[in-house]
Amino acid sequence: MSPSKPTLVFVTLSVLLFFQSVHSQLQVGFYKDTCSSVEFIVKEEVTKAIVKDRGLAAALMRMHFHDCFVRGCDASVLLDSTPSTTAEKDSFANNPSLRGYEVIDSAKARLEAVCKGIVSCSDIVAFAARDSIEMAGGLGYDVPAGRRDGRTSLASEIIGNLPPPTFNVDQLTQMFANKGFTQEEMVTLSGGHTLGRSHCSSFSDRLYNFSGTSMQDPSLDPRYAAKLKQQCPRGSTDPNIVVPMTSTPSIADAGYYADILANRGLFSSDHSLLTSQATANQVVENARNPIKWKAKFAAAMVKMGQLDVLTGTAGEIRANCRVINS
Ligand code: HEM
Ligand SMILES: *[C@@H]1O[C@H](CO)[C@@H](O)[C@H](O)[C@H]1NC(C)=O
Repeated sequence: MSPSKPTLVFVTLSVLLFFQSVHSQLQVGFYKDTCSSVEFIVKEEVTKAIVKDRGLAAALMRMHFHDCFVRGCDASVLLDSTPSTTAEKDSFANNPSLRGYEVIDSAKARLEAVCKGIVSCSDIVAFAARDSIEMAGGLGYDVPAGRRDGRTSLASEIIGNLPPPTFNVDQLTQMFANKGFTQEEMVTLSGGHTLGRSHCSSFSDRLYNFSGTSMQDPSLDPRYAAKLKQQCPRGSTDPNIVVPMTSTPSIADAGYYADILANRGLFSSDHSLLTSQATANQVVENARNPIKWKAKFAAAMVKMGQLDVLTGTAGEIRANCRVINS
């Protein structure tokens, strides 16, 4: 009897994760002797939050991405601005769109009560992202841990580290390459847009102001464009209006890739994956083989979670995820 497709995917994923963890300074089970209930507690808080608001799965996954791409996975995204500095969370890329901070706060409060000063905020974010993906129907994965928290967060570091929705495929490829990702991994991770929602401002130029004209982006499916125009009136800057990324914004499926193929990718950056042969082939493959995409996505998230991490005695274990220790 030959092994089933899911079995093969599982074996492949385990091998991938094994080799990645060999190179990492992080460890699966890092807290087993110091705070053995950590992953259970985080999962409980994440589950509670997502049951109340399904959209939080998207939010917590994106939080890990925005943390890791700016200064590494050091929970810099969680720090509040101070009188002298504007923090990442108050930059245009995160305010008002990044959410879920209170879920991390409640997990942290419970962890401080049972194992004070042990668990970093950056590890909590990594666990929460994994739990969110799993709850949304993606593949679960082991999270190597042992990250420590940074002491700096600057809104000025967003540009050059986080991609804007106007990027073309070469710009996306370059920015992900700067973080050590292949172009295929960039396409895989873009599938994060299978979950969640967006404010109108992230794509309204495609509806009303394509390339600085008063045209509509000709690469956008006209029926989809008409629907988006209804939801996002010209000139609207209402932060309360949000549009779902896909028709199933709470399910981690490969619908994102099918949408792109139908010219229903929400952002220019999403659509741009069709504009090179190599990335277009990846889009087709992911649309056709969602199980394989889920496995590749899980492996890419593990890799992302190791970007420029602080370990050992570097950084600190913050007592409150919103402020550095005094
Ligand atoms: C490839 C380059 C990427 C670009 C240009 C991009 C851009 C954006 C933009 C503009 C939004 C909407 C913000 C708003 O107006 O509300 C957004 C939302 C989102 N992004 Fe990305 N993103 C990228 C990659 C990723 C990756 C790698 C992930 C995760 C693995 C991700 C996960 C999400 C999620 C889940 C949301 C919805 C958040 C929510 O519902 O709260 N994105 N992204
Ligand atoms: C229209 O697009 C151009 C660049 O393509 C930009 O400079 C301008 O601010 C946009 N106008 C509006 C009203 O958003």
